Amino acid sequence: MHKVHIDHRDSLIKERMSKIKNKILIMSNKGGVGKSSISVMLAKALSEKGFKVCLLDADIHGPSVARMTSIENMQHEALSEEIIKPIEKYGIKIVSMGSIVKDTDKALIWRGPIKITVIKQLLADFEWGEADYMIIDLPPGTGDEPLSVCQFIGEIKGAVLVTTGQNISFLDVYKAADFLEKLSIKLLSVAENMSEYSCPHCGKKSKLFYADKDKKEILEKTKRVEIPFYPKVMELLDKGEIEDIFKGREELKEKILSLADDTFKG
Ligand SMILES: Nc1ncnc2c1ncn2[C@@H]1O[C@H](COP(=O)(O)OP(=O)(O)OP(=O)(O)O)[C@@H](O)[C@H]1O
Ligand SMILES: [Mg+2]
Repeated sequence: MHKVHIDHRDSLIKERMSKIKNKILIMSNKGGVGKSSISVMLAKALSEKGFKVCLLDADIHGPSVARMTSIENMQHEALSEEIIKPIEKYGIKIVSMGSIVKDTDKALIWRGPIKITVIKQLLADFEWGEADYMIIDLPPGTGDEPLSVCQFIGEIKGAVLVTTGQNISFLDVYKAADFLEKLSIKLLSVAENMSEYSCPHCGKKSKLFYADKDKKEILEKTKRVEIPFYPKVMELLDKGEIEDIFKGREELKEKILSLADDTFKG
């Protein structure tokens, strides 16, 4: 009986994922480098460009997407006993544990097999519908969630690796790049996040992190996009008010979109 149910989900995922043209992973081996921020901004930028966009927060233990899009505590509408509607906010269909679980301040203590089932449910039980893009925010590392996502989703257009311009973070990028290579997933670009900071008083730009040149050159063949640190962007993401995140920051929008450049070619 149990087996039948699992198989049912597998075919549902296949059907749902076949309606989404481009599935893009946002990943890093190191935590706190800006995966969720870039996932949210990429989803918003693509939506502003006129694409139909879904945003899946596959970070079960740290579902920041819900907070950054302020969908925490919003009720999901059930379309039937087994189908749930993603929350639609800022023109994006969003699913995150942060909007499913009531008390987001409590830790979820789940081991691998449960997490794998949860990922399956996030993909199968929600009515994602037809879409041009699904942006998938992954937790740091190459553990259960990234593996399950890659295994279940089927064809993945590519991945964006996020790092800071720091030796230790760049070294982790190679591990993530190796993971992608082993799974035959295309590396679309590397986002060097929080690359510089402009002084609010004199406007002088300064590097926030330091990495040896040779560390960066190993990724020479991959497109690398430097994304500055914007204090206002941090504030808007913290508040979950992203409607105007690119207002007056057109260059940020262009940089975020360029991470997915390859996918615009078809
Ligand atoms: N370019 C940026 N400008 C300003 N703030 C940023 C930028 N990138 C990220 N941040 C801020 O840095 C913090 C950490 O980013 P974020 O949560 O996206 O990292 P993460 O890689 O998803 O972390 P985790 O590994 O915990 O999932 C956030 O509070 C976010 O607002
Ligand atoms: Mg995150």
